[in-house]
Amino acid sequence: MGAVAAVHKDQAVSLAASGTAPPQLRVEAVSLHYQTPGGATFTALDQVSLAVPDQQFAVLVGPSGCGKSSLLYLTAGLAEPSAGQIHVGGRQVEGPGADRGMVFQSYTLFPWLTVRQNIAFGLRRRGQSAAQCRETVDYYLNEVGLGAFADNYPKQLSGGMMQRVAIARALANDPQILLMDEPFGALDSQTRLQMQQLLLRVWGNSKKTVLFVTHDIDEAILLGDSVYVMGARPGRIKRVLEVPLARPRSLDLVMERPFIEMKREIFGLLHEGDEQAVS
Ligand SMILES: Nc1ncnc2c1ncn2[C@@H]1O[C@H](COP(=O)(O)OP(=O)(O)OP(=O)(O)O)[C@@H](O)[C@H]1O
Ligand SMILES: [Mg+2]
Repeated sequence: MGAVAAVHKDQAVSLAASGTAPPQLRVEAVSLHYQTPGGATFTALDQVSLAVPDQQFAVLVGPSGCGKSSLLYLTAGLAEPSAGQIHVGGRQVEGPGADRGMVFQSYTLFPWLTVRQNIAFGLRRRGQSAAQCRETVDYYLNEVGLGAFADNYPKQLSGGMMQRVAIARALANDPQILLMDEPFGALDSQTRLQMQQLLLRVWGNSKKTVLFVTHDIDEAILLGDSVYVMGARPGRIKRVLEVPLARPRSLDLVMERPFIEMKREIFGLLHEGDEQAVS
């Protein structure tokens, strides 16, 4: 297994929670069942547990339909688990809240507001004064390199720029955790690489806890402190891997041995059983 540390799912919570501080995110034996149109019960998530320490960057990878988005929605409080509990910052999730910032793959900016107004949106609602609001917005505009576009409307931005605004908006609200569902999935590969570097830099400054969903193994390893590899039918955590790469991380790492070893291991986990499925 080389430099890659691996544990099985029943060790997932204790591994990630082995630091002294309590985890910022704790998912405990969460299951999610949906009713199919035919009246049967479909298990989207089966006894999923994970614990993400404060300021850690956790990544979920898994095949399409394994429940990654469902787990993010449950953490965001947009849906309720059928069983189990989710705690953020020690408090049980019982609905949506400003303590959880979300960035989705699809563009979710308000089209009728400028970049500045989009980033300021939650701040105004939280009662920040105009001066505080301007200061916060200016800081995050600078962080994501969009100072020159503050007065543009979303339709005047590229896809990558829109996602930079979405990241700035989420962080400006100072959440306890940032939930990101394939935020770069719709971008071309070059822009995606730039966005990964930008996110690493912004995250390094903000030190927020992150739960990040991706299909892309390279992205998972490049960004994450830990990678939760999920399996489907039913959706579950198959393995938790700690990323053995120091920070700051540059793109050159993708050609180095620890990176390649880890990539091979995750690929194997994602594709185990494929041969049987074909024959
Ligand atoms: N509202 C719903 N009603 C019934 N089934 C649903 C509903 N939402 C999701 N599902 C099912 O739950 C499973 C998990 O869906 P989810 O969107 O969480 O997967 P995912 O891992 O995010 O997939 P992808 O990588 O394609 O985004 C899928 O099989 C999906 O068909
Ligand atoms: Mg999804």
